[in-house]
Amino acid sequence: PLPHAVNIVEVGPRDGLQNEPGNIDTNVKLELIGRLVDAGLRQVEATAFVSPRWVPQMADHTQVMAGLPNRPGVRFPVLTPNLKGFENAVAAGAREVAVFAAASEAFSRKNINCSIAESLERFEPVLAQAQEQGILVRGYLSCTLGCPYEGDIAPEAVARVARRLYDMGCCQISLGDTVGTGTPLKAQRMVETVAEQVPLADLAAHFHDTYGQALANLFAVLKLGISTVDCSVGGLGGCPYARGASGNVATEEVVYMLHGMGVETGVDLRALVDTAHWIHRQLDRPMQSRVARAMGE
Ligand code: HMG
Ligand code: MG
Repeated sequence: PLPHAVNIVEVGPRDGLQNEPGNIDTNVKLELIGRLVDAGLRQVEATAFVSPRWVPQMADHTQVMAGLPNRPGVRFPVLTPNLKGFENAVAAGAREVAVFAAASEAFSRKNINCSIAESLERFEPVLAQAQEQGILVRGYLSCTLGCPYEGDIAPEAVARVARRLYDMGCCQISLGDTVGTGTPLKAQRMVETVAEQVPLADLAAHFHDTYGQALANLFAVLKLGISTVDCSVGGLGGCPYARGASGNVATEEVVYMLHGMGVETGVDLRALVDTAHWIHRQLDRPMQSRVARAMGE
């Protein structure tokens, strides 16, 4: 059985843009966010309070927060790798944040410059402060279906870190196929194993489409009961620390698939596709998303 409705978490403005080489004007980012909200997205990851030396594209985080539309019911989570990022995010007005860990030691080092255990220690004070201030914290877990440096990752290793993040107070664990190498039965097994430790209702799928498997993988885990899906408009993005990682699965491809199966998303597909074309014109890059290409401008 499929869920009757799916929550889409739009990560394009963060995961999509963090990897772009050129400078992107803050106003372009804000217009993108505004268009996404107008298209019906209710959770839009707006930016990341990470080190500007590590990810220069997110250096304008404070200006992005200051320019966000004030729309009731719309949530704008941001990434925070440590207490410094958390404090800056809250000072800038964030009411919802996300910490990010990895299921692979090597990826943890490349991405956040510390071991998995050290990263969890760094998140403790973030979770404690967040709880005090009534701020929701999402927990991302990278490399759940494979690592660019270590290859295969055991589902049990994923489940172990997912459980730690959840016990620490993360309200939802987003399972990332960072390199997009997963296939449907592997995705199914991974989610089944994690679901023994964390309730399915509190899991999200964050799949990248590098190998063209993302929709198939999503279908496999939706059938298990996953009802939150992260995606990126136009399939923008990748990860600076996962070589060859193309974008997250395109939001319009996910919405097209879900609507075709009678699953509600609250998203206006036409407006979303228009937004995908708009941002691609701004970035001057070819459209990867097949749904956006097929539906045209
Ligand atoms: P570090 O260099 O080990 O940190 O970086 P440090 O604590 O030693 O500090 C070094 C300097 O950075 C200091 O400044 C700190 O103040 C500063 P200095 O004294 O040298 O002038 N600093 C900060 N500045 C701004 N904001 C902060 C911050 N923290 C320290 N929050 C750190 C460690 C975690 C900061 C760094 O590695 C980092 O920022 N990494 C970010 C990596 C990133 O953004 N990756 C992409 C997002 S994750 C992703 O895409 C995966 C996901 O989509 C899921 C999936 O697909 O799998 C979520
Ligand atoms: Mg990602």
